[in-house]
Amino acid sequence: MKRVFEIEAMSFDQSYGLNMFLKLHEMGVGFLVAEDDGYVVGYVLFWIKHEYEGHIISIAVDKEYKRLKIGTKLLSQAIMILNQCNVEYITLEVNENNSGAIEFYKNFNFEVDRIVPGYYNNKEGAIVMSLQVHP
Ligand SMILES: CC(C)(COP(=O)(O)OP(=O)(O)OC[C@H]1O[C@@H](n2cnc3c(N)ncnc32)[C@H](O)[C@@H]1OP(=O)(O)O)[C@@H](O)C(=O)NCCC(=O)NCCS
Repeated sequence: MKRVFEIEAMSFDQSYGLNMFLKLHEMGVGFLVAEDDGYVVGYVLFWIKHEYEGHIISIAVDKEYKRLKIGTKLLSQAIMILNQCNVEYITLEVNENNSGAIEFYKNFNFEVDRIVPGYYNNKEGAIVMSLQVHP
């Protein structure tokens, strides 16, 4: 869990914090990690927000391991699990200035739904994206 928190802290200005991660883990949200020889290099957290809506809470890859398709493997697994849970669609929020992540999600056919101004620290907006998995 400590490595997951480290990766999160290096990846986002606004961090959930270790305690929140521990709480989410206790709550039983979906939690997958990618490892390189036992060393955690990425994670994805997801949950079923409503019976019809899956949600990606957070995903990040250690900066030394980016662009190696680790994020792709993590998100593919999360989508597969949510799909098996029969959610209709999957949502997520991404910082409107995080063009790399937006590109990453578009590769999975996530589409822009709406923008929520001031979502992050009352400053930067969030783009809400969604992916339809069951019609
Ligand atoms: C977004 C993130 C998880 C992607 O993980 P990754 O393992 O580096 O991504 P992948 O190697 O699987 O990338 C797959 C494709 O997504 C796109 N992509 C990924 N990062 C990109 C970037 N910085 N800029 C543009 N396109 C990007 C590319 O099309 C890439 O394919 P390519 O490398 O063949 O061009 C990672 O960059 C990260 O941890 N970012 C910081 C945290 C974050 O922004 N999380 C998401 C916000 S909610």
